[in-house]
Amino acid sequence: MIDQLYRKAVLTVAGQKTIENAVRARGWGMAQRFVAGETPQTAIQAVHDLKKDGIMANLDLLGEFIESPAQCTQFADNVITMLDAAHADGITPYVSIKLSSVGQGKTVDGEDLGLTNARRIIRRAREYGGFVCLDMEDHPRVDQTLMQFRTLVGEFGGQHVGTVLQSYLYRTEKDRASLDDLKPNLRIVKGAYLEPETVAYPQKADVDAAYRRLVYAHMSAGNYVNVATHDESIIHDVQMYALAHGISKDAFEFQMLYGIRRDLQRNLAAAGYRVRAYIPYGRDWYPYFSRRIAETPRNAMFVLRGMLKG
Ligand code: FDA
Repeated sequence: MIDQLYRKAVLTVAGQKTIENAVRARGWGMAQRFVAGETPQTAIQAVHDLKKDGIMANLDLLGEFIESPAQCTQFADNVITMLDAAHADGITPYVSIKLSSVGQGKTVDGEDLGLTNARRIIRRAREYGGFVCLDMEDHPRVDQTLMQFRTLVGEFGGQHVGTVLQSYLYRTEKDRASLDDLKPNLRIVKGAYLEPETVAYPQKADVDAAYRRLVYAHMSAGNYVNVATHDESIIHDVQMYALAHGISKDAFEFQMLYGIRRDLQRNLAAAGYRVRAYIPYGRDWYPYFSRRIAETPRNAMFVLRGMLKG
């Protein structure tokens, strides 16, 4: 409850133009901790830097207010440009996209534009042996995203496309089981949107318990699992579960956000676990940055200290 209030308060303050201008005026100084840069080249440099610590990367082009079909298609073009740049630099691209950013819900030429643009992106990623994860957004989009995921796995194969399930939604355990026939590559997260009690657990303890159940069920069904959390107690329990059930370290990976718990990321990689950092980049970094601040007061303190230093 307090978590929710904190998150709501920060997001409200961060949404005010004066605050946004003040933070933007300080330039990259503070955002750099959480955002790799504004261009594909800066993101690719971050991929190389993480590789030195044995950490893999997931590139994420930021873009929040993409409204018109033309903007959605331009955004998809920018993702494809990034795939090309990564491939040219010797990187097998692994990217995440939000279907809303590429046109989900907009019909163009009788087809959902999100699906059309996702196909273009996945086709290019597949050419390079890469992977595209469809991020999960707020609850009204879940049905369509899962349907489109099923379509795309059918067309491109499960080695090139995955999606995300959120443990805070009551529906998610059923959703997971309903996807089992696809042997899907799933990222399990707790969930980042402010959702009503009618659809999501209000208590963190329930979200955490559902998280464990989802990861264990997906592992036990023999599927690849992306355990996307910074929660050390969950990470520990997943390690123990895998050990106890003879699940190899290649059958799952830990995923964390760029700049968050870097110590934990390095330690897990050094212990032989697969670890991937989610690297956001792009000019549209402010809303992403605000959400990270809203996640924990520790991040707010980090920014405040940066601002006071000038
Ligand atoms: P929780 O919030 O319980 O935090 C556990 C511990 O980690 C606490 O000690 C906390 O302080 C620390 N921590 C968490 N976030 C931190 C931060 N920003 N800075 C510093 N410490 C932090 N959501 C979604 O709805 N759709 C999606 O597609 C994705 N995709 C995604 C990819 C990846 C790689 C990650 C890591 C996360 C997502 N998320 C997401 C976000 C996710 O739903 C969730 O909001 C955050 O991961 C925070 O939850 P934790 O699981 O880390 O646990």
